[in-house]
Amino acid sequence: MKSVKKAIFPVGGLGTRFLPATKSVPKEMLPVAAKPLVQYAYEEARQAGIEQCIFVTGRNKNAINNHFNHAFELQSVLSENEKKDMLDKVASWLPNPGQVMFIPQQDPAGLGHAIWCARHAIGNEPFAVILPDEMVLHKKGALSQMMDAYKKYGGNVLAVAEVAKEDTSKYGILDIEKEISDTVVQARAMVEKPEPDEAPSNLSLTGRYILQPEIFDYLDKHQRKHKSGDGEIQLTDAMESMLKYSPFYGCKFEGKRFDCGSLVGFLDACIAYSLEDKEVAKQVQEMLVKYNESEVRKAS
Ligand code: UTP
Repeated sequence: MKSVKKAIFPVGGLGTRFLPATKSVPKEMLPVAAKPLVQYAYEEARQAGIEQCIFVTGRNKNAINNHFNHAFELQSVLSENEKKDMLDKVASWLPNPGQVMFIPQQDPAGLGHAIWCARHAIGNEPFAVILPDEMVLHKKGALSQMMDAYKKYGGNVLAVAEVAKEDTSKYGILDIEKEISDTVVQARAMVEKPEPDEAPSNLSLTGRYILQPEIFDYLDKHQRKHKSGDGEIQLTDAMESMLKYSPFYGCKFEGKRFDCGSLVGFLDACIAYSLEDKEVAKQVQEMLVKYNESEVRKAS
C-alpha cells in the first residue's frame, strides 16, 4: 500500500457566507484565537506525516502565500530586539523550501474542480484533502486518525461526524454498507444534503479525505449534474461514481468539529480554541461568565 505524503488544501472558494469580511481577506486567513484557519490545517497535515502541501488558490488569496513565506522586515526587527517568542510565532513552523506549492484555480468552479487542478502535482499517489474552513479540535488531529484507518483498510477514507437528524440537509451524508469496526464504516453511497426523512444515516462528510489518484479520472469528466444544482464540479459526484470500483470508508474521528465557513461555527471555534489557549483561557472564561450573568439579569 502506498503511503500518503501529499495533501491538497482547496482555498479557492469565494467565501460568500462570510461577507463582507471575505471581500478582501481570504476566509482561510481569518484568525481563530491568534492563528489563521489555514495554519491549523497545515499543522494537522504535518502532524499526520504529510510532506508536500499543495494549496489550490484563487484571486485575492495572496495573503495565504505570504503567510507561508518569510516576513523579512518583521523578522529582522524582532530579531534585533531579541523577541524570540514572537519570532517563533512568525517563522519557527514554516515549511522547508520546496514543501509547499500554490496552484491557481483560475475559475472557482467548485471543490471537485479545485482538487482536479492539483492532478499533475499529485501524480499517481494517494493523497489527503483538508478543507481549512472545517476545523477539528483534537490533540491527535483528525487526519492522523484517518491515516490509522487507511493503514488498516487502504482504499479511500472520509472523515465523518454524527449530526443531529434535523441538520442532514446541510451536509453530504453517508449511506452505510456495513460497520467495519467501532470507528470505521464502509460506504454504499453518498447523498448530498438530504432532507431528514430521506437521509440514509446521520454521518456527515467533514472536510477531510484520503483519496486514491483514480479520483482524477472521474473529476476529468467535469460532472456538474448534482441535484444540489449549483453548477459547480462537486467532489461528491466523482466519489459516487468511483465507489462502485474502489472502497470508501467513513472514519468516525474523535474531536469536536467546527464549520468555520459559517459565522456561528466560526464564533463557536473562536471560543473553544481560546479556552484551549493558556495565554487567554482564564480571561475568556471570565468573559463568558460575565456575559452569562448579564443575560440572566436582562431576562429577570
Ligand atoms: P465552501 O463552499 O465551503 O467554500 O467550499 P466557499 O465557496 O469559499 O464558501 P461560500 O459557500 O461561498 O461561503 C469548501 C472548500 O472548497 C474550497 C473552499 O475554499 C473551501 O475550502 N473551494 C470551493 C475551492 O477551493 N474552489 C471552489 O471553486 C469552491
